[in-house]
Amino acid sequence: MTPLAMTDTPRLPVGSGLHYAHGTLHLEQVSLAELVKRFGSPLFVYSKQVMLDALHAYTQGLSPHPHRVHYAMKANSSLAVLQVFANAGCGFDIVSGGELARAMQAGARAQDCVFSGVGKTTAEIDQALAAGIGCFNVESLSELQHISSRAQALGKVAPISLRVNPDVDAGTHPYISTGLRDNKFGISHADAVAAYRYACELGGLHITGIDCHIGSQITQATPFFDAMERVFDLVDALTQQGITLQHIDLGGGLGIDYQGEQPPSATHLWQTTVQRLHARGLQRHALWCEPGRSLVGNAGVCLSQVVVCKPTAHKNFLILDAAMNDLPRPAMYQAYHEIVPVTPRGEPPLLWDVVGPVCETGDWLGRARTLAAHEGDVLAICSAGAYGMSMASQYNARPRAAEVLVHGDTVHLIRERERHETLWQGEHLVT
Ligand code: LLP
Repeated sequence: MTPLAMTDTPRLPVGSGLHYAHGTLHLEQVSLAELVKRFGSPLFVYSKQVMLDALHAYTQGLSPHPHRVHYAMKANSSLAVLQVFANAGCGFDIVSGGELARAMQAGARAQDCVFSGVGKTTAEIDQALAAGIGCFNVESLSELQHISSRAQALGKVAPISLRVNPDVDAGTHPYISTGLRDNKFGISHADAVAAYRYACELGGLHITGIDCHIGSQITQATPFFDAMERVFDLVDALTQQGITLQHIDLGGGLGIDYQGEQPPSATHLWQTTVQRLHARGLQRHALWCEPGRSLVGNAGVCLSQVVVCKPTAHKNFLILDAAMNDLPRPAMYQAYHEIVPVTPRGEPPLLWDVVGPVCETGDWLGRARTLAAHEGDVLAICSAGAYGMSMASQYNARPRAAEVLVHGDTVHLIRERERHETLWQGEHLVT
């Protein structure tokens, strides 16, 4: 193994709050090396301050216009994370009955939740109606009918908005792009006015708004603004037909810095949106949004220990105790996450493929990384606050990691590491 003739200067993602102090990586005022000693590895660690700052960027752009930020909890649905956003005044974008139950368990009110998703079941619709959901974002005519009939059967009125598909290319990974006409999401722009007219004829519905969401990890402002103008066009067309709305929900999707991306700031995006809303004379509509990744992605790291250093003739492998089951994004989307040493060694680095111990070639976390690391060292996989723990599985019978929330110098264990017994909870042997 020939060391690389370069120094290993770790790059820390912008907006992550990560910094080195006394030779060790810190999040807020907490040493990440100490946390691994105390809670073991792999370990997810989140900064409350980074989350609140990310939220502030939204409210700064939106205020003083009437608005609501619905945190898209699929990004990270751990109870204490939801609690941070609920206490900060957020509502929630939910996509299942389970998410509604989790949000309420964390202290959210159902009326502050919007229910998105293309396939809401009868049980989920009934659960949301009984709880008093804030709004259903409806994605098809069949679903409109379904919600209308359930609302009438239960003697309720369902607040609804239609999710329209503006047919705008968000320029992101095909698996996380949702606003194209080939995607399963939403009602096409061309059919939207007719769908609203149809909704007016159905009982048990109260039309309150319009919704769109074009994709995730968007790093350019243009697709957002294109989609926004197309939604505003529809609001105009609806007003002309006598259908007036109270809110316009422009979804989530704002990207973060994983690998040097420079997405527009939430403040700029929403300030511009408010200006356009006024310029088009639509200012009586409240603005809603559904951000996930941009509120939590860079607030979290996944800490993991090197189990084995394995040089081979063609490649060097760093085998960690974290794997695709803990952080599936690289395996699923070839996603890039910065990987940095928690306590840099100051040695010349080597080129490594950073992988997990799961029995799949796709189980990798970073390819061709320059790192100086030895067995037992702790690495931080950055930008792991969004779609990390919420997508984690127990594949290979690996108990899921623990989670810690830090704020200032305080440390809270917010999820215990799963134990082996957790792995077969609810299962039955046949007798
Ligand atoms: N609203 C709706 C209707 C959504 O479908 C999503 C995300 C969001 C809001 C929040 O989007 P965000 O602000 O987080 O971009 N697992 C993938 C991301 C899937 C996103 C799905 N929908 C990943 O790890 O990249």
